[in-house]
Amino acid sequence: MGIKILTEHIGKEDLKPIDAYMKYGGYTAVKKALTSMSPDAIVEEVKKSGLRGRGGAGFPTGMKWSFLAKPEGKPRYLVCNADESEPGTFKDRYLMMHSPHTLIEGMIVSSFALGANTSYIYVRGEMMFVIRILEKAIAEAYAKGLLGKNILGSGYNLDLYVHPGGGAYICGEETALLESLEGKRGNPRNKPPFPAVSGLYACPTVVNNVESIAATSWIINNGGDEYAKIGIGKSTGTKLISACGNINNPGVYEIELGLSVEEFLYSDQYCGGIANGKKLKALVAGGSSVPILPAHLITKTANGESRLMSYESLSDGGFATGTMLGSGGFIVFDEDQCIVRNTWNFTRFYHHESCGQCSPCREGTGWMEKVLHRIEHGHGHMHDIDLLVDVAKKIEGNTICPLGDAAAWPVGSAIRHFRDEFEWHIKNPSEATRKGAVYRKE
Ligand code: NAI
Ligand code: SF4
Repeated sequence: MGIKILTEHIGKEDLKPIDAYMKYGGYTAVKKALTSMSPDAIVEEVKKSGLRGRGGAGFPTGMKWSFLAKPEGKPRYLVCNADESEPGTFKDRYLMMHSPHTLIEGMIVSSFALGANTSYIYVRGEMMFVIRILEKAIAEAYAKGLLGKNILGSGYNLDLYVHPGGGAYICGEETALLESLEGKRGNPRNKPPFPAVSGLYACPTVVNNVESIAATSWIINNGGDEYAKIGIGKSTGTKLISACGNINNPGVYEIELGLSVEEFLYSDQYCGGIANGKKLKALVAGGSSVPILPAHLITKTANGESRLMSYESLSDGGFATGTMLGSGGFIVFDEDQCIVRNTWNFTRFYHHESCGQCSPCREGTGWMEKVLHRIEHGHGHMHDIDLLVDVAKKIEGNTICPLGDAAAWPVGSAIRHFRDEFEWHIKNPSEATRKGAVYRKE
């Protein structure tokens, strides 16, 4: 097993009680940061670490922090995006369920670095059990003097709140999340201005994912340079991957970035290979919002190099031959899975979750769902395939928020790599709709 930064102590004992967490060195980063470091020095360490946003976009965390505006007389906020809703992604809930103080410690250190005195953890509304765990852990941190006024005698004050999410996927988009936190309907805002300039209540705000914030404590304890030594190239550190689908060992794994996809997929330490001795057909590496990869491009890039679990290697070749690390939702399809049905299923999800503000997304996701439904159910026409490609292209890059792109990419990539399967559905409607029937390439 490689190095573990976030999950090292999970499983040794119940880490939810604060005393158990502290037994393993918990809250030493808060002490170090608040009593011996300046906020700017913390930002510098995070920059040096090369940590990139773990929600999916991979934007450099230290750079995002340094963009935070500091106008006179306005408060600054840190908001943790714990609205994890990406299909196939369940890593943040794992961390919060098993080690809530890892996130709370990171929130204190990060809030101090950003000069925030009020911070929020916006948790997906369906995860009430996680909200309860966090609230209990926050109460313990207040009781130990780690939250509230004059934390550890440093003169720094911080109040931390948990806010239940609005129950929609779109509330995980950072500006929709801020609208929702303000008590409004979760509609994404146009960017710019970015939240770093005008975020919560029009004040400078940093929105970071659970995993990104949690990693900051280790960076403070060990230094940004040490963190940067882990991983590969510009993909530094470790990443939580939630693995699911047709594999022997579904679950959440903390991997060092740069591990080969082959090892992750087939080693018994991780996914343990394809379930029931079946063949691998396709993979979605970073949650449903990224392009799907066919078997021949999963373990090797188009140049024949080993495909690695990193931001760069997974996207090698762009969308023609690559995908994205995204949120780390690793969904594996075996030879018995139908790509058309799966694409229809993803599209149905995006159509349902579109907030409806922009026409390309509101109308386009509906059209794609309708066309995919008819192909899957034996009523498709050959020209439907190009119609889907055309609609997907018209959505891409033409919407307020990335949900439009997220809906378009899986459709475009499924047709790019599995066009013969779509054609087979159209040419053989009675066979394609027979229960259990699946297209197999000769
Ligand atoms: P983005 O690339 O637009 O932004 C990334 C971050 O950098 C944002 O916080 C943005 O405010 C900040 N940023 C970018 N340019 C900036 C600038 N010039 N000044 C200040 N700040 C700047 O991507 P976004 O919308 O944050 O995330 C999209 C990704 O989220 C998708 O690729 C998908 O993988 C992932 N996702 C994850 C989900 C989950 O459940 N974890 C759910 C849905 C999507
Ligand atoms: Fe809403 Fe879709 Fe437009 Fe995003 S892209 S703002 S979800 S309509």
